[in-house]
Amino acid sequence: MIGGGPGAFIGPVHRFAAELDREIELVAGVFSSDAGRSAAAGEAYRIDPARAYPSLDAMFAAESARDDGIDFVSIVTPNHNHLPSARAALAAGYPVITDKPLTATLAEAHELAALVEAAAKPFGVTYTYSGYPLVREARARIAGGEIGTIRKVVVEYPQGWLAGEAVGKQAEWRVDPAKAGLGGCIGDIGVHAFQLAEFVTGLRVTELLADLGAVVPGRLLDDDCSILLRFDNGARGVLLASQIEVGELNGLRIRAYGDKGGVTWKQEELNTLTINRLDGTCTLVRSGTGVLGNDAASRTRTPGGHPEGYLEAFANLYRDFAAQLRGESAPLLPGIAEGVRGMTFIDTAVSASRANAGWVKL
Ligand SMILES: NC(=O)c1ccc[n+]([C@@H]2O[C@H](COP(=O)([O-])OP(=O)(O)OC[C@H]3O[C@@H](n4cnc5c(N)ncnc54)[C@H](O)[C@@H]3O)[C@@H](O)[C@H]2O)c1
Repeated sequence: MIGGGPGAFIGPVHRFAAELDREIELVAGVFSSDAGRSAAAGEAYRIDPARAYPSLDAMFAAESARDDGIDFVSIVTPNHNHLPSARAALAAGYPVITDKPLTATLAEAHELAALVEAAAKPFGVTYTYSGYPLVREARARIAGGEIGTIRKVVVEYPQGWLAGEAVGKQAEWRVDPAKAGLGGCIGDIGVHAFQLAEFVTGLRVTELLADLGAVVPGRLLDDDCSILLRFDNGARGVLLASQIEVGELNGLRIRAYGDKGGVTWKQEELNTLTINRLDGTCTLVRSGTGVLGNDAASRTRTPGGHPEGYLEAFANLYRDFAAQLRGESAPLLPGIAEGVRGMTFIDTAVSASRANAGWVKL
């Protein structure tokens, strides 16, 4: 693991998730850019102290010399470190799974895509929400025609935790362009909403009209995003992402409406998928029940009513990645193409909004 040091948010989540199915074990890492903090994290993760490294060079040199050395690398640092970390891991011959956004800028994303193509190793991107069983169920049902031809998509990701001054480890780098990259809120959560919309509907956004604001005084990156979308089948859509909506936690929600019905899924009520039909009837598809298709059922661990959540969704991405490492197909795991696509979305929306450019192509 690269990142995930003392006080980090997502590193420990990756560790829980990766280890859930016992196909993967965290054994080594450069958990911080500070050697002492990397060692402290290694102790907290209860790994061999000799394998909590002070630098990437030290880790790759030592691990490649071991018979039981690492098999792949997870990247969970702030965005500006994704490319250098991935570059070093690929150069050392290791497959990579990285958190989103793929990189800090679109130019970096293209550089990384070329490196991944040349390396020809598995490469995953942890767009968490594509790991939820009922998100996969929604995708499968839409692909199967259950709501007909999609005409409207509404996806929103409201948060309120950056409504005031950005204080604390997680907040500080997210509002710093040198570390977060080109996007603020749009790179942090807007890109999740975008990926979810394309993943669930199977459609591609072809045009967008973006209005991004830095609402909190002095903030250099966007913290509030309103975007109109047009999809490749002619459907229209709306994407809202905000980190200044006071009181909102992680209210990610997607709604897709076709000519036969509509689908709704909310991350804060993640164990129910709602399907409405033109005739007024409504089906609640509940996780852990016998009605799920294979994409969802194969990624569900407990019977209905014993809720699964965020950690298990992450674990599903790791289960997919483990399958890819074994040479098996796991097509629902987002890869380098989805990573570049997300960066293209961020870059396009930020540039278009800054230029007040109206509708632009994606
Ligand atoms: N998929 C999701 O749902 C999700 C959720 C949160 C964060 N993220 C992504 O995960 C990444 C990390 O976010 P976070 O909230 O955990 O940040 P964080 O600030 O909590 O943790 C980042 C960690 O990286 C370490 N680090 C920084 N530079 C390093 C370097 N050069 N070498 C080794 N370690 C280094 C820091 O010491 C820290 O421990 C970001 O890219 C973020 O966008 C994704």
